[in-house]
Amino acid sequence: MKKKIIITLDGWSSCGKSTLAKQLATKLGYTYVDSGAMYRAITLYFLQHQVLWTDEKMLTEALKKIELAFVEDSATGKSNIYLNGKNVELLIRELVVAEKVSEVSAIKEVRNFAVAKQQEMGKQKGVVMDGRDIGTVVFPEAELKIFMTADNEIRIKRRFIEMRELDSNVSIEEVKKNIESRDYTDSNREISPLRKADDAIVLDNTHLTTGQQFEIAFNWANEKSSM
Ligand code: DC
Repeated sequence: MKKKIIITLDGWSSCGKSTLAKQLATKLGYTYVDSGAMYRAITLYFLQHQVLWTDEKMLTEALKKIELAFVEDSATGKSNIYLNGKNVELLIRELVVAEKVSEVSAIKEVRNFAVAKQQEMGKQKGVVMDGRDIGTVVFPEAELKIFMTADNEIRIKRRFIEMRELDSNVSIEEVKKNIESRDYTDSNREISPLRKADDAIVLDNTHLTTGQQFEIAFNWANEKSSM
C-alpha cells in the first residue's frame, strides 16, 4: 500500500516545473498547485486596482480583499486560478504581470499570505506543488523534493514559444530580459530566496524530453511513497 506524500518542485523560471508537476499529479491522482500563479494573481490584482505595494497600509488592506482559488475545468481537466471569482489563468501570464511579479513576491506580507494558503492545501498530502521556496519554506518536511534546472538558452526558447502564443509582438530579447531579471531577484531576495533545499534532488532537463524527465521523477515518487 502506497502512502500519500508531498512532492515539491523548485527551480529557475521556465525550466519545466509546471509541466512535470502536472504530469506527476495526473499520474498519481494528486492535486497540482501552481504557487507562482498565486503570486501572479496577487500582482494582477495590485496592477488592476492601482495598489501601491510600497505603502504598508494600502498593501494590508488590498490583501484582505483577495480571494484565490484553483478550479478544475471539467472540459479540459486543467486547473485554473480564480481571483475573486474570475478565471485569470491567461491574464496572469502576460508580460505586464511577469515584469512586476518578482518585486511583489519579495514582500513579506505577500509571502505570508500565499504561504499560509499553500500550507493549508498540503494538509491532506497527495499534493504536487511547484515554485521557488516550496521545499525550503512551505513544506520543509516534504517526502520528495526536486530542484529543477536547465540551460539558460533552452529556458528562454521555451518561454518565448509560450509567450508568443499569448502575444505575437513579444520579442525574444524581452523574454530573455524578463527571465534573467526574475531569476536574479528571486534568488537574491531577503525572504525565502530561491535555493536548493539540502535534501532536494537535482533534475537537469536540458537534454531530456518531457517523457524522460517524467519517468525519472515518477520513479522517485514511487520510491518515496513506498517507504
Ligand atoms: O513559477 P512562475 O514563473 O509562474 O512564478 C512567478 C513568480 O512568482 C516568480 O518569478 C517568483 C514568484 N514565486 C515565488 O516567489 N515563490 C514561489 N513559490 C513561486 C513563485
